[in-house]
Amino acid sequence: MLANTSQLILRNIADLTGKVLFVEPEADQLARQLQTLTAISCYTTDAAVKTQWQDAGVNVYFAAKPDFTEKFDTAVVFYPKSKEQLASTLQLLHSALAEKANVYLVGDNKGGIKSLVNHAEKLGLHAHKLDNAKHCLWFSLTGDLGQLTLRQLSSFTLSLNDKSLQICSYPGVFNHGKLDKGTALLLQQLAHINDGKVLDFACGAGIIGAYLKQQAPAIELYCSDISMLAVEATQATLAANQLSGTVVAADGLPSTPANFKHIVSNPPFHTGIKTDYSISEAFIAQSANRLQKGGTLTLVANNHLAYQQLLEQAFGNIKVLAKANGFVVYQTVKSQ
Ligand SMILES: C[S@@+](CC[C@H](N)C(=O)[O-])C[C@H]1O[C@@H](n2cnc3c(N)ncnc32)[C@H](O)[C@@H]1O
Repeated sequence: MLANTSQLILRNIADLTGKVLFVEPEADQLARQLQTLTAISCYTTDAAVKTQWQDAGVNVYFAAKPDFTEKFDTAVVFYPKSKEQLASTLQLLHSALAEKANVYLVGDNKGGIKSLVNHAEKLGLHAHKLDNAKHCLWFSLTGDLGQLTLRQLSSFTLSLNDKSLQICSYPGVFNHGKLDKGTALLLQQLAHINDGKVLDFACGAGIIGAYLKQQAPAIELYCSDISMLAVEATQATLAANQLSGTVVAADGLPSTPANFKHIVSNPPFHTGIKTDYSISEAFIAQSANRLQKGGTLTLVANNHLAYQQLLEQAFGNIKVLAKANGFVVYQTVKSQ
């Protein structure tokens, strides 16, 4: 399957010359459709995209701030879901582009690329529309990327249960700079977690994991997220609060350790700009396999999402621990 943005790139493949860098592409099969290009690389912060491009034999840069070891003649940038990421991503490219390199941008109309001309102007750049098909736009971008601002970690203080936590985050990390209302509700329902291996799945800026480790220092904390921005933000959050934990990038549950005593999550239900329940379905099924006997899965979700049925199917039991502001906290126990 190819995303519409990827199909638009293939339609304009004649524009792509020399060494080409694909920046934050979608999780699809594009890498396998680029046989006419001789030298391609990929920069992504998404663990699923990393795996797909590596499996297609492409050199992948995977970090919040990658160290590029080569110069590219062409960069193809996918318009980011969070607009505030664009300037920073372009700034990162600056040092990786050869003199006179061409920069192209592609995006889905639903993702906001229609406003790129204005957005680019505000950044001191110029966007020129070149093509329009499949509800997507193809632009070239000119101007000095070096004057743009690089992504910086920022932090805010969270006060809970008479204690405070410094939460570090990057633009592009879930709910950047704020505590989500669903997460806030979930944090009030975690007093049963005191020891054992505990996973904060889909950790974002690491709020749940940091809170758990601060409240119950005896736990062995693991945090995972598909996004490298989230992984690096969580590492910074733990370090800022002198808390220890293992933080990994993974699409779905991390492969190690084999079992957890407790899993806690405010799980994702989006892939890019689309609602996608399959991630949570897979997460719940994987959790049922990876929890030790007597272990718990505690998660929060919007009350319009069909988690109750999924949890009942996978675990055979379910409790509603709290309901407020359109969110529900569910808990299931691994019985055998
Ligand atoms: C609703 S946010 C929760 C973030 C954080 N736990 C909080 O409560 O603030 C969901 C997180 O899921 C991550 N995510 C999306 N798809 C994923 C996948 N397939 N595997 C792991 N994490 C994923 C996103 O990057 C995002 O950080």
